Parts: sequence; structure tokens; C-alpha cells
Amino acid sequence: AAASLAASPEAAPATSQAIHIVDELVKHAPLYDVYRYDMAEQVAAILDVPVEKAVACIEVPSNTKNGDLSLVLPRLGLTMSPVAAAQKLATEFKLGTAFAAYKAMGPFFNLTFAEDHFRNALLPRIMLDSKSQYGHSSEGLGKIVVIDYSSPNIAKPFHAGHLRSTMIGTFVANLLNARGIAAVSLNYLGDWGKQYGLLAVGFDKYGSEAQLAEDPIRHLYEVYVKINTDSENEREALEAKRKAGTATAADEANSIQDQARAYFTRMENGDAEALALWRKFRELSIVKYKQIYERINVHFDVYSGESEYDLTCMQGYLEKLRAMGLMKVDAGAEIVDLNAFSMGVALIAKKDGSMLYLSRDIAAAHDRAEKYQPDQLLYVVGNQQDHHFRQLFKILELMGSPMAGKCQHLNFGLIKSKDGSMSTRRGKVVFLQDIIDQTQEEMHDVMKANEAKYAHIADPLAVADNVAVSSIVVQDMSARRHLDYEFDWGRMLSFEGDTGPYLQYAHARLCSIERQAQPLKPLATWEEIAATSGALTEPQAAALLRALAAWPDVLTDASVSYEPCTIVKYALRMSRDVSRAVEALYVRNQPEDIARARLTLFVAARKVLGQTLSMIGLRPLERM
Ligand code: ARG
Repeated sequence: AAASLAASPEAAPATSQAIHIVDELVKHAPLYDVYRYDMAEQVAAILDVPVEKAVACIEVPSNTKNGDLSLVLPRLGLTMSPVAAAQKLATEFKLGTAFAAYKAMGPFFNLTFAEDHFRNALLPRIMLDSKSQYGHSSEGLGKIVVIDYSSPNIAKPFHAGHLRSTMIGTFVANLLNARGIAAVSLNYLGDWGKQYGLLAVGFDKYGSEAQLAEDPIRHLYEVYVKINTDSENEREALEAKRKAGTATAADEANSIQDQARAYFTRMENGDAEALALWRKFRELSIVKYKQIYERINVHFDVYSGESEYDLTCMQGYLEKLRAMGLMKVDAGAEIVDLNAFSMGVALIAKKDGSMLYLSRDIAAAHDRAEKYQPDQLLYVVGNQQDHHFRQLFKILELMGSPMAGKCQHLNFGLIKSKDGSMSTRRGKVVFLQDIIDQTQEEMHDVMKANEAKYAHIADPLAVADNVAVSSIVVQDMSARRHLDYEFDWGRMLSFEGDTGPYLQYAHARLCSIERQAQPLKPLATWEEIAATSGALTEPQAAALLRALAAWPDVLTDASVSYEPCTIVKYALRMSRDVSRAVEALYVRNQPEDIARARLTLFVAARKVLGQTLSMIGLRPLERM
């Protein structure tokens, strides 16, 4: 409609100004949307249905032989039969400049794009639109979403679940930002509870300042394992003595667990000395976490943690639960009975007055509401905690919390392996760092095998590291979130098939074409593109252009489902189309207009594939 209005010669100056704005907007709108609306406007007029309804019934057929857009007529719910409606459209639809052909196929009415119109509208959107990144939008401007992800526990292994949370959370943050939403990424560390009392007791016995400085995460874990073993042994010995009737009062008193409890009580009471040691553990761990996160391209706006919600802070929430009559006393403990909602009983305060993970999450949700005033709060946590979050959200609702109804648990399945841990060929690993290190080493070996290429890479270890991370991420994101998957070392290290290295390779190949084409430049204006893109006649070009045009739709789909596999599937499709196009369409030794048109296509593909990889947290590689 905008285009036909703009062509009207009698338009008054004021109107033409307005039309100019509309025209500009259409120039930047996602291309598939523009075509869908073009189609829907005519469909609406011919069949007498609302435009929005028609738009919702238009699909992109999986086989482009059937056209580029397909109207699924049964979904319109007309009184006329869908087949008759398709026939009516076939007699009345006007192709205009945007479409080249239509076809009524039973209950479907399909349109094929006019290739020149399509190319000339698409390429500038990717190459020339400096307003924003291609496919990004500002629809979410002004919205704030807090994402709680990664959230490992100090002195415990950074397990596979934390890794998945880290990767999915990063993707979700990128996705939100692409829609103009301010994503606040928050790492909610497990850094509070009796186990930190136990850790302090263990450190007293086994700790080494030197090792703590060297690798705090590993050392604290070692100390924790040792003291835990001691405590277990102590408990067993005491049991045996009790059975034999030889347990003395001294045996019964001051167990390791008692000491741990006492230490944690000091922490809860704000004892400066007890807190100083704990704070050191926490701070050194964060420094180390940051190094590893940097390696996997992950960043947080805020490091928070359970420790922010100590006993003092909890009092107000406990009071509120009591005052609202939600809390019941049960054998000395305080609970919220959620049986009416088939959610069992939620334990809030233990008999000894201590708080739990759930209690602290109640306080944390309120605190986030106050600090960030978010429109939404997302928790990226494994589905073992489904029950926990159902209880949490219900309690927030019952309390009338400002976050009620705004929380969502983005859950995911387990990474399975034979013995339940993430193991590599060399055995069980518990540290994220080890997983990356071992993958990197193997990648480096694969790279070294190709000596000629290897010689050109400036920093092979950095590249190997990047490829290693890509393969971990892509394996993780290949299937839908909720599914468990088997950590498959063999598949992960493969450069072929649906893997991270394959995607990086496609990107590096496009970069190489660009390097080798120098000093040739891609087409740089709407006019140049309109004059020259006609050289892109091959089916491989048409297929790649369609893949490029699909990116905004992919982002929209992913924004609804928060499924990273949507992006991975698209990246694989792109990479396959890139590979076919690269093999068919040479840039070197071609007439200049053909060379420039093809180079433009490849630069556009490099930009979009680069964005796609960045969206799932990868760093696109220029050489590998
Ligand atoms: N630290 C927890 C764990 O490792 C995850 C925390 C998730 N976030 C939350 N607000 N509960 O299981």
C-alpha cells in the first residue's frame, strides 16, 4: 500500500513527507513480513477477512518448489470451501512487482517471489542498513528482564547442569538484547549455608594459602571433599561406638558437623572474623570463574548470591508469611502448605531456625523486584528443580509479591553419561576448565594434522580453544532444551556433520573469500545493488538468499520458545547453503559485475552467519 501511495503524482507535500517516512520504515522492516503483508492485503480484500487474520495463515513452505509463501486456507474458517477460495484468489490476485507467480494447490494458495525484487530488497537490508543489526528490532525497548543463570556453588563442582545453564542463559540474554530488551544477567552463587561452615573447618585442617591463590575453585573443592570424608568417617565410627555402648560424652560432643554448624552460626550473626575467611573464598572463586567465563565468552552484569539473604534479611519475609496466615508450625519447623495446589509442603524455616534454599529464593525474588523492577524474571535451571520453582512461584503469588506472575523457569534436561558425571576419554571430570582444556587439546591435534593451513594461523591455541568451545556449545544446543542428551565425545570432536567446527568452518571460508577478493569491494548502494545483483542467477544464490531472508523470522520464533536449537538449526542450514554457493559461484577470475554481485552475497552471508554464531555465544572465526 505504501509503495502505491508513494507513486501517486498528485500527493501534496505534507502527505509525501508522511509517505516518505512510511517508505523508509518499509525499507527496514523484515522482508518476509513485507511480503506477507503485501499478500495478506490482497487476500483480505478478495476474501473479505481481516488483514491480521490472513497474515497469521501465511506460511513459508519447506519446499520452495511450491513457492515462497503459502496461504493455508482451511485456517481462515471461511464459509466458502478452501479449494473454492484458492480458485477465487487465482482469478483475482494481482502479482504486481513483488511476485512472479501464483498457484492454487488444493486448499493452498502459493506465491513465488519475483527474484529481482527479492534480491534488491534483501541485500540492502543486510549490507546497508546502518540503523541496527540485520534482524534486530526495537520492539522490546523499555522492557527489563532479569536472567538468573549459571549460578554455581562455591566449593562444589561446576557440573554439567551449570554449564548448560550458562550457555542457555547467555543465548537468552543475547536474544533479548536483539529485541531491544535490557537483559540483566545475574549469577546467583551458591555461597551460603552450613556447608560454608564445613568448608572453613576443613580449611583450618587442610587449607593452603598458596593453593588457594593458585586455583581457588579446585583447592576449595579438594578441601571440601576431604573434610566431608572425615565427617562421614567420624559419624560411622560414632555409630559403631554407640552400638557397642562405648561412646563417651567427649565422642558425642564437638563433631565436625557441630563445628561447621557453630561456624556458620557465627557467619549468620555477622562475626567479622568468620566472614572474612568466607569472603576470601568467595572473592577468589569469582576471580577464577570470570577467567573461565571469559574463555567461553560469557559475561555477567551482577554477581549476587544466596549470602545476600542472611537471617536478618529473612525476618521481614518470615513476618509477612506469618501475618498473612500462610505459615504453619509443623513439629517446630515452619512450613507453607501447598497441598491445595498439589505442590506438597514447602519448608521455610527448620526447627533450629535456619533457612533453606527456597526461603532465600523468596527473599531474592522480592529483592530483584525492588532493585531492577523487571518486567520478567527468568531462571535458567535444570528440570530437577521444577518442583522447587513451582513452589517458589506459588508462594510469591500467595504473598502478592510484585514478581508474582512474572517469573518463568526456563528448564532443561540432563547431560547424561555412563556414570552420571561428565566424563571424557581420560575419565571423570568435575571442572569446567578440564572439559574445555581436553577438548581444546584434541582440537589442536586435529588442526596440526593439516600442516599447510596450520602454518597460516597466527595463534593456533586460541583458535583451538574457540573451536573447542564451539563444539561444546553446539552439541549442547542441537536438541530441544527439555531433552536429556548423551555427552558424545566422538561427535563433539568431529569437524563434519552438525557440529560447532562445521559452522565455524563455513564462517571462516566466507572470510577467506572476502580476503582473497581484495581489492574488490561489495556493492555499496541501493542503486548499485539494483543495477548489478541481476548477476546472481544461479539456484545456489537463490537458496542462500532465502536463508538470509529467514533470519528475522528465526529470531522471532526463538523469542517465543527460548529454544537455542532454533538458532543452531538455522546456522546449519545457512552453512550448508553457503557451502553449496561457494562451490558453485566463483568470485575470482570473473567479469567485474558478476564478481562484485557474488562477493556481496558472500559478505551478506558472512554477516548473518556471524550474527547467528554470536547469538548462541560463539566468537565467529576468521581463519581456522
Ligand atoms: N546454585 C543452584 C544450584 O546449583 C542454582 C541456583 C539457581 N537460581 C536460583 N535462584 N535458585 O543448584
